[in-house]
Amino acid sequence: MKIAIGCDHGGIVLKPAVIEVLKEKNIEVEDFGCYTEESVDYPDFALKVAEAVSQGKADLGIVLCGTGIGISIAANKVKGIRAAVAHDMFTAEMVKRHNNANILAMGGRVVSPELAAQMTRKWLETEFEGGRHTNRINKISAIEDKYFK
Ligand code: RB5
Repeated sequence: MKIAIGCDHGGIVLKPAVIEVLKEKNIEVEDFGCYTEESVDYPDFALKVAEAVSQGKADLGIVLCGTGIGISIAANKVKGIRAAVAHDMFTAEMVKRHNNANILAMGGRVVSPELAAQMTRKWLETEFEGGRHTNRINKISAIEDKYFK
């Protein structure tokens, strides 16, 4: 399993704790930056992670910004991406169980590094439920097919 990770200056505070969880689980990590707290534009890092996942170069992705929101919106512009923000253990579980999110987004100004690590574990260890949720995800893909050129 390989996971692509990317962040901006608002999310970088979470990155070491998240990468530690991935390493613990022997998951290969590709870190697309940023690497310092200097102000950067989150869409640049969202695009790198989303392209890696969409092109099958990574199995899953994790994106981090101040809230998790901007970077997830940007990642969701890439075909095949379901990036979802989690801010507690319940949402971390549900974004996989019901939404089969292939990118987990979290906010460095919303959650602590400790909670981000626990949420990462929960998302990785939760299975997609399938069934009626597969139909719903297929409907999301149909929207992509209608509007993505
Ligand atoms: C950067 O200041 C901040 O806007 C960004 O990290 C993120 O929270 C956007 O959604």
